[in-house]
Amino acid sequence: MNINWYPGHMKKASDSVQKNLKLVDIVFELLDSRIPISSQNPQINNIVGNKPRVVILNKSDLSDQPTIRKWIEYFKEQGIKAIPVNAVSGRGIKDIINEANEQMKEKMERLKKKGIKNKPIRAMIVGIPNVGKSTLINSLAGKKSARTGNKPGVTKGNQWIKLRGNLELLDTPGILWPKFEDQKVGMHLAFTGAIRDEIMDIETLALRLVERLLKIAPEMLVERYDVNIEDLPALEVLNNIAEKRGCIIKGGEIDYTRVAHIILDEFRRGIIGSVSLESPDDI
Ligand code: G4P
Repeated sequence: MNINWYPGHMKKASDSVQKNLKLVDIVFELLDSRIPISSQNPQINNIVGNKPRVVILNKSDLSDQPTIRKWIEYFKEQGIKAIPVNAVSGRGIKDIINEANEQMKEKMERLKKKGIKNKPIRAMIVGIPNVGKSTLINSLAGKKSARTGNKPGVTKGNQWIKLRGNLELLDTPGILWPKFEDQKVGMHLAFTGAIRDEIMDIETLALRLVERLLKIAPEMLVERYDVNIEDLPALEVLNNIAEKRGCIIKGGEIDYTRVAHIILDEFRRGIIGSVSLESPDDI
């Protein structure tokens, strides 16, 4: 992770999020749609409390669509609206703005009756590192958006970005930590590149990923690497991929570091295919 999370850091992060939460009406909780559980902060319900919340399933371009639909249902059952988004292309951005306006409609009407008109709806984004918070802020802000300048109540240096329909977004996201005491979570974060190759050596990580893909999407490995996988253990499949890609060093040995980089990089960029690593069916 870009940030080292120690108890002190976690408290500081949580305090900072709590402080900014006081300024907003609604929270956009950003998750990685490939791993909504692993990319979720374990304390999120306590941190957000009763504040209206929208779950944003980001990197939807890298997930398989039927599984995303299952996640939308899963969150709906918890009374939470989840919206699939691609923060890079902007797909789903409009839905976030519409949903926020919709959720705040009653409150705005109540205020209107009291004579308070055009009070902005204020929102902030929270999420673990690398989930796409900065990309989403830029995407939401778009080209036309205006920063409203420093206003009382906002941490020094923070600004509100004006969005459509009376919505204002805090330009600084809240950074939360994942459930890193859980090994499976660590592995998911490593597979997706949220933590950089520090959980284990990249050769083992790539082997674990091949093992996983052989279970959940074997056809994608065949399609991408044109390899034989039939009844083969993951290590042999990895060897086959290495041979196909010419990852061989002098003496005919396999260059595991090189093939590991290829597989991890291609998986993270969605080149192997759109794969959801977590499904509500597994819970
Ligand atoms: P953060 O603020 O939450 O830490 O995340 P940030 O916006 O920096 O995004 C992390 C990486 O994820 C970036 O890749 C960004 O382009 C990518 N990303 C964000 N949203 C999406 C999305 O919807 N789809 C896809 N495919 N990618 C997305 P990067 O700049 O290449 O960084 P890195 O991969 O080198 O860390």
